[in-house]
Amino acid sequence: MNKILIINGPNLNLLGTREPDLYGTNTLDDIMARCQKTFSNLQIDHLQSNHEGVLIDKIHEARGTYAGIIINAGAFSHTSIAIFDALNAYEGYVIEVHLSNIYSRESFRHHSYITTRANGAIVGLGASGYIFAAQKMSEWLG
Ligand code: DQA
Repeated sequence: MNKILIINGPNLNLLGTREPDLYGTNTLDDIMARCQKTFSNLQIDHLQSNHEGVLIDKIHEARGTYAGIIINAGAFSHTSIAIFDALNAYEGYVIEVHLSNIYSRESFRHHSYITTRANGAIVGLGASGYIFAAQKMSEWLG
């Protein structure tokens, strides 16, 4: 199974226009299209939602369906034990991505619940972080 799911959380629908100095000028659609084009060996689906429960429902749906999840849960990374629990109930690979370097920002961003569950994390490399994460999934899933 080489299906992977990319999940983006709150405010990431505004990428391209939201604080571009921090998050870059690529839109989420641009980034997702780049991932799909670069890794034609993977079937890549994606979901963005501003709602915690929608993200959790999608992680539940991923059980037994997707071999890996790449997740940028936005601010929920720092607050959501519920997303952490959902990922713990998921059996596949998990890679966490943050466009910005959360460790060089406000202290409330230094902790992510998701890092505890993730197989790996990529922070501070902008949109390329998604490409690097998909590259690693591609290696793992052969
Ligand atoms: C972010 C970092 C989070 O702290 C922030 O709340 C976001 C974006 C990132 O990709 O750098 O919404 O996840």
